[in-house]
Order: sequence, then structure tokens, then C-alpha cells
Amino acid sequence: MSDPLDRLVGSLARTGLTRFFRRMLDDAPDLFLKDLTVEAVGPDRTIRVGGRWVRNFGSDSFLGLDQHPAVVEAVARGVRDWGTHNGTSRAFSSVAPQREAEARVAAWLGTEDAVIYPSVTLANAGALPALATRHDVIASDQHAHNSIEEGARLAKARGARTAKFAHNDPADLDRVLRTLRPFRHAVVAVDGVYSMSGALPPLAALQAVARSHDGFLYVDDAHGTGVLGTRGRGTVRDALGGYDNTLVVGSLSKAVSCLGGFVAGSRAAVDVLKLRSNPLLFGGPVPPPYLVAVCAALDVIESPEYPRLRAALDANVRRLVAGAEALGLTVLGGRVPIVSVLVGGEDATLRAGRFLFDAGYYVQSVVFPAVPHGAGVLRAQVNANHPPAAIDGLLAALSDLAREVPLPAPAADAVAVPA
Ligand SMILES: Cc1ncc(COP(=O)(O)O)c(C=O)c1O
Repeated sequence: MSDPLDRLVGSLARTGLTRFFRRMLDDAPDLFLKDLTVEAVGPDRTIRVGGRWVRNFGSDSFLGLDQHPAVVEAVARGVRDWGTHNGTSRAFSSVAPQREAEARVAAWLGTEDAVIYPSVTLANAGALPALATRHDVIASDQHAHNSIEEGARLAKARGARTAKFAHNDPADLDRVLRTLRPFRHAVVAVDGVYSMSGALPPLAALQAVARSHDGFLYVDDAHGTGVLGTRGRGTVRDALGGYDNTLVVGSLSKAVSCLGGFVAGSRAAVDVLKLRSNPLLFGGPVPPPYLVAVCAALDVIESPEYPRLRAALDANVRRLVAGAEALGLTVLGGRVPIVSVLVGGEDATLRAGRFLFDAGYYVQSVVFPAVPHGAGVLRAQVNANHPPAAIDGLLAALSDLAREVPLPAPAADAVAVPA
């Protein structure tokens, strides 16, 4: 007789998504380019996988700061000065680079204060339950990132009521908040930019509805941080003119190329999070070397080098979008440096990803459940340090692919792809 743990694991493996992924892997092991091992990283966004060097179009380090000498040196300096980890929860103490990185994030954005969690996932899982109690409600966009949903679930388990409103629809938000009445305050949680579609939320209209219901905006701008808005500050300040009645969440792991997720806003709100948010009280912080590196990355972002990096990135995105459209492909996104090409079925999408990989280009094959059934996409993350010739090479490979696998033309795109 096997142990209960073995029996549980066995039954989990036979159900739901685990079964779905297992079957995909078993049916087509050579097509399933997931869980790859990257054996080495080279210059100009190359990686070695299975002994072959390919161009990597799968990195969120949009500005290429992960290989910037000043950022790399800052991690090494951080290790020399602070060791690998300070080994305590922030309830007891924080190293000076933590305070410095938080002050730098706040000064960059123009908020009163900021607090850094080890990831955006933990920020959402920590902040939403800390903000919404049994007297309050959370209304989130139906396409908001999974980590907002997880944070809302935790808040719900602790007594808050939660609901979703139709994507980017202030009138539906109003309807949902009316049906949730009575409550004390409402957290209106949205993404700052929906990374798959490139859609921006109508923040000013959502804010007006939120205010009319004693609510405030909670904007997860993970994909906007560093690459959208004036000086890379993301979408919120440009849309709202400031941060009144708003908390903004951002990523330090994507364009900033370090580690962590922040929540920024008024000092009073940040102070309350520090006292109520469980991952800050019961979990460990970002290791000091990465906090030192956040400051170095922000030095670059606030220097004259930034407009050059951003111009290179934007030019690369334009080159890929224009080239893919000229090939007659259905291109989704392109506002953030994530450009998706619609393929369709799961099998065709995995085959298409393998085809590009064999041609020397790694892009992510995104299939259900990240997108609806039958709406698989090839998702290319464009970086500032992709040489333009690499974009042209990817386009040539896409052109070859379109001859092998029928790819839907734009008119055929009747499928809504969520972020
Ligand atoms: C909107 C949004 N929130 C949260 C996350 C998760 O961020 P992290 O990897 O820091 O947990 C992502 C990652 O893609 C994201 O796009």
C-alpha cells in the first residue's frame, strides 16, 4: 500500500491541468519547448540550449540591463559589502540598501513612498488582503493578471468580498460596485497594461467610478515599469497626472532586470502595508545585492543613456511589428515590447515554436490555459540589445514558417486573447 502522499500526487497527476500538460508532453516531447535548460548566455541576447546557440526572444529584460556592466557590477559589490542574504524578516530589520532602493523607486515615480516585496506575485498576495478587510470589497478587471486574482482570493478567504468587471469597462465596474453594496471601501484592481493585447485601461474613467463608490485604484503596472510612460515611470502618472487615491505596483524583475515587486503611493498607505502585509512580516526580503543593483539600474534609467536604450527598444518593436504585418500575419500587442503572432491550435502553435527554434530563434509558444483554446500564439519579447539583424532573421524565419504552417491572416482573428 502506498503512502497517502504518493496516492494524492498520483491522483493530482491524473487530473486537470497536470494531466493536460502531461499529455501534451507525452504526445509531442520534441515539440514541447517548455521547462528548457539554458546552458549558457552569450552577447546580443543569445542563449545555448541543447548545445545550440539560438537568439533569445523570451526575456522580459526589455532594456538589456541584466547584462549592463553597471548593474552586473552592483550585484558583485552588493555581495562583497552585504553577503548573500541578511537572513531576517523586515519585521526585525532592513539593510540600508533596502531603504535606499525604496526611496529611489518612490523618487523615480514621484510617489511619497514605496515598499519592495520579493516579487510582484508576493506584492499582490500581500497587499490586497492587507488592504481589503471583511468590511471592504475588491473589484478586479476580468483580464487582470493571475496574481491579482490570487491576492483577491486570499482577501476573500479573510472576509473581503470580491467580484470581476468586464475588461476595461468603467460602466460595468459601476454596475458591479452597485451590486456589492453595502461596503466600506472598494479596491479597484487592474493591470497598468495588458501585456498580450497591449491594451491600456481607461484609468481616469475607472478612477472616477471608484471614487464615486468610496473606492481607490490599485494598478499592477508590472509590464509598464521601465518601458512605458515618461522616463519609464509606467502608465499611471501619465494617465492620471499623479497618484492621488491610487496605489501602483511595479516590477523590478522585468525591465529593471533585478528582483522584486514594489507597491508605491502615499506614505500612510505604505506604512500600513509594512504593518499588515504578511509577506513583509513573515517572509524574507529581496537579498541585498539585488537591492544595490536596483539603485544601479535606476541610475541608468535616470541617466541620458535611458532615452537611447528606449529608442533602440522601440525601434526593434516597430521593426518586428511592421515586418510581421507585412508578412500578412495577425499581430497582437506591440505597445509593450511583447509581440504575439496568432497561430491557432495547440499542436500548430507548438510546431511553429519548434520550427523557429530549429531556425535559430527561441520565442515562447503560448497555448491554453494562458490563452483560450485554439488561440495559441508565438510570443516574442523584444529587447533593446537585440541587434536589428536578429529581428530581420526572426522575420525571415516567420516567413518560412508561414509557408509550412497556415497562419491566420488578420481578418481571421475573431478570437479575443486575454492578457
Ligand atoms: C501584470 C503582472 N503582474 C505580476 C506578474 C508576476 O511578476 P513576478 O514575476 O514578479 O511575480 C507579472 C508577470 O508577468 C505580470 O505581468
